[in-house]
Amino acid sequence: MPKTVLVSGGAGFIGSHVTVELTQAGYDVVIADNFSNCDETNYRGVCQILGKELPLVNMDFCDSEAVDALFDRFHIDAVIHFAAFKAVGESVAEPIKYYRNNLTSFINILDQARKRGCNVLFSSSATVYGEPEKSPVTEQTPRQPSTSPYGNTKQMCEDFLRDSVKAYPTVKGIALRYFNPIGAHPSALIGELPRGVPNNLVPFITQTAIGKRAQLKVFGSDYPTPDGTCLRDFIDIVDLAKAHVYAVRRMLDGKMEQPYEIFNIGTGTPLSVLELINTFEEVTGVKLNWEFAPRRAGDVTAIWADPSLANEKLGWKATRSAAETLKAAWAWECHLHELGL
Ligand code: UD1
Repeated sequence: MPKTVLVSGGAGFIGSHVTVELTQAGYDVVIADNFSNCDETNYRGVCQILGKELPLVNMDFCDSEAVDALFDRFHIDAVIHFAAFKAVGESVAEPIKYYRNNLTSFINILDQARKRGCNVLFSSSATVYGEPEKSPVTEQTPRQPSTSPYGNTKQMCEDFLRDSVKAYPTVKGIALRYFNPIGAHPSALIGELPRGVPNNLVPFITQTAIGKRAQLKVFGSDYPTPDGTCLRDFIDIVDLAKAHVYAVRRMLDGKMEQPYEIFNIGTGTPLSVLELINTFEEVTGVKLNWEFAPRRAGDVTAIWADPSLANEKLGWKATRSAAETLKAAWAWECHLHELGL
C-alpha cells in the first residue's frame, strides 16, 4: 500500500513541485489549499505532468474543524506544511495577519499529528539565521532574533514542532531550511506565479524580461562583497522538491536518528545578484533592463548553506546549475505569457 502524504499549500510554488516528485516516487498525495495566494494554474500543471487528477481539497488550515474532517477523510502518514503567508514586507505591516495564519494553521496540524500519530515536515527558511557572522551556515549556526514577523513565524513553528515531538511520542518531525528556491519544472507547466508585483528576485527578472515590468532594481551596490551586491544560495526548485522525498522516506521508513531533525537545503555555493542577472542574460539571450537602487531594508549581505548534513543523512544533493535553473524559469514565464497570465 502506498503511503499517503498531505501537502498543505500544494497548489503553490514549492508545494506543486513537491507533489510531482512525491507522486513520481510512488506516494499518494492529497493536496489541500485555500487559494489565498495562487490560482489553479499549478494544480492543473501538476495533473498534466502526472497524467492524472490528484485529490484536491479547498480548505483553510486555520479552520480546526475542517482540518479534523480532512484527517478523518484520508489516512495521512505524513504531512508537509507549506500553507503560509510569505511576504516579508507585508508581514511587517500586518503582523497579526501573519501570526494568526501561519501559527494557527500549524498548531491545527500538530494537534492532528498528536491525536492520530503522524510525521510532520515543516517548510522552514534560511531566514532563521538572520545575518550570520559567517557563511556557509550549518544547522548548528545559532538562529538570530528575527527582523520580521514572517521570519518570526518560521522560528516559532520550528519550536512548536520541536516541543511537540518532545512531548508527544506520536509525533516525529523534520524541518527543512530552504535557502533561495528559484526556477520551475522542466516541463514549464508549473512554476512561481506571484500575485501582483513580485518581491523575489527571479520572478522580477523574468517578468522584466518578458515586458510585464519596466525595469529591475538591484537593491544595493555597496555591500562588502566581491561585486557589491548581496550573495545568496539559489537552489533549483526541482532539486529542492526532491529533498522532500528523501526526508519523507527517512521519516516513514523509521530512519530518523532523532525524533526532530533539521536540514539545510541549499547548494553550498554563493552567487551574487549581479552574477545571477548575467547568467540569466547569457542563457536566454535576453538583455535585461536594470539599474542600481538603494539597499532594501532587512536584506542580509551574504548567506549560503553548508548542505553536508542533508548530503550525508538524506542522501540528497543539489544537481542543477544556475544556468539550467534560470532557463527553466524563463521557459515558465514564456508559458505564462502564452496563457495570457
Ligand atoms: C526572502 C526571504 C526568505 C524567503 C525567500 C523566499 C528574508 C530576509 N528573506 O529571501 O526568508 O525564504 O525570500 O524566496 O526573510 N533583489 C533585488 N531586486 C529585486 C528583488 C530582490 O535586487 O527586485 C535582491 C535582494 O536585495 C536580495 C536578493 O535579490 O539581495 C534576493 O532577494 P529575494 O529573492 O527577495 O530573496 P531573499 O530576500 O534572500
